[in-house]
Amino acid sequence: MKTEIPLSSPDIGDLERRLVMEVLHSGRLSIGPMVERFEQMVAQRVGTRHAVAVSSGTAGLTLIMAGLGIGPGDEVITTPYSFIASSNVIVHAGATPVFVDVCPTSLNLDPKLVEAAITPNTRAILAVEALGNPTHMDALARLAAKHEIPLIEDSCEALGTVHKGRACGAFGRAGVFGFYPNKQITTGEGGVVVTDDERLADACRSLRNQGRAVGRAGTANGQNQTGSWLEHERFGFNFRMNELAAALGVAQMKRLDELIERRQHVASAYLARLSGVRELVLPTVDPETFMSWFVFVVRLGPDYSGEERDRVIRGLRTHEVGSAAYFPCIHLQKPYRDKFGFREGMFPIAESAGRRSLALPFHTRLTEREVEMVAQTLEVMIRREDLTRA
Ligand SMILES: Cc1ncc(COP(=O)(O)O)c(C=O)c1O
Repeated sequence: MKTEIPLSSPDIGDLERRLVMEVLHSGRLSIGPMVERFEQMVAQRVGTRHAVAVSSGTAGLTLIMAGLGIGPGDEVITTPYSFIASSNVIVHAGATPVFVDVCPTSLNLDPKLVEAAITPNTRAILAVEALGNPTHMDALARLAAKHEIPLIEDSCEALGTVHKGRACGAFGRAGVFGFYPNKQITTGEGGVVVTDDERLADACRSLRNQGRAVGRAGTANGQNQTGSWLEHERFGFNFRMNELAAALGVAQMKRLDELIERRQHVASAYLARLSGVRELVLPTVDPETFMSWFVFVVRLGPDYSGEERDRVIRGLRTHEVGSAAYFPCIHLQKPYRDKFGFREGMFPIAESAGRRSLALPFHTRLTEREVEMVAQTLEVMIRREDLTRA
């Protein structure tokens, strides 16, 4: 069934089409000038010295783990309230994810609990701007500095957000953005690692390109500057971004301010319309945050169950309004229960949020009429649950 109001929708315009066609006409589809241009634009926007474009946000996080040498025996403190990729990269590195509960308002890692979880085996803190909210990232950066461990900033949901004067992605030793089509900008699939650490940037450049030795970039014939195409210095991956994706990225970066403005407009419309619905907990934005808005996620009040939330989501979908449960807790997902023995009750704040939250349709072209339709349908679905209880 077609969803009349989709959960998300990329905003692709003439500029994107033109730049992608330029790449197709050039015949240069990988390791070319678009990737470099895209990297420069992202680095400049975030204010970091280096940006390394990769094939996905997950690939970017994987490179940082490898670049920092994180592996078996290491613990990485992270959040259970996130998209699963932020923890999977820790497991794939052979390290142990140490989950810590979140703060009930921001739904981000609670810095006090993080500090209490630091042990001699802690090799990094991997923090996420959950749902794009940057609250506590500054405190986590201070904590990481105090304990001399790197902060890895998963900013996949926060491109364009600025917190206390600092761009998301620039708080950690390294940050990562993701460009799946529901994000602030998209490259179809893609990601970028940003960092001021030159050695780490070089390691990421080499690792994304099968471990080849790297000067700053590939040369025109596809070889790197220092060695042959078939010489490899370390165990690498193919996590390169292709030129078509980078062309999309360049166009989207040029339009980033316009895209953010539209997202802010839609978020304001939702906040105004839903502020009187007392069964809902709405997202809060710190006064010192300029928010680029990844999604619009609301929570049902604390007395609603997961089953009731799921019925509300199904009811919205039946009425052709896109909705999804953002986020089910990572530690309660099957592979985490099976491998580490996590169970319900271990991180009660994250679990409560995970049970009660739902994403509403959110994209740049959502009209005020559609916001009204979503809000009305949501109210009806909540009332239906209340009546079933009574
Ligand atoms: C918080 C978070 N981390 C990591 C990722 C992974 O990004 P990708 O889907 O580009 O691999 C995403 C994106 O979906 C995300 O939201």
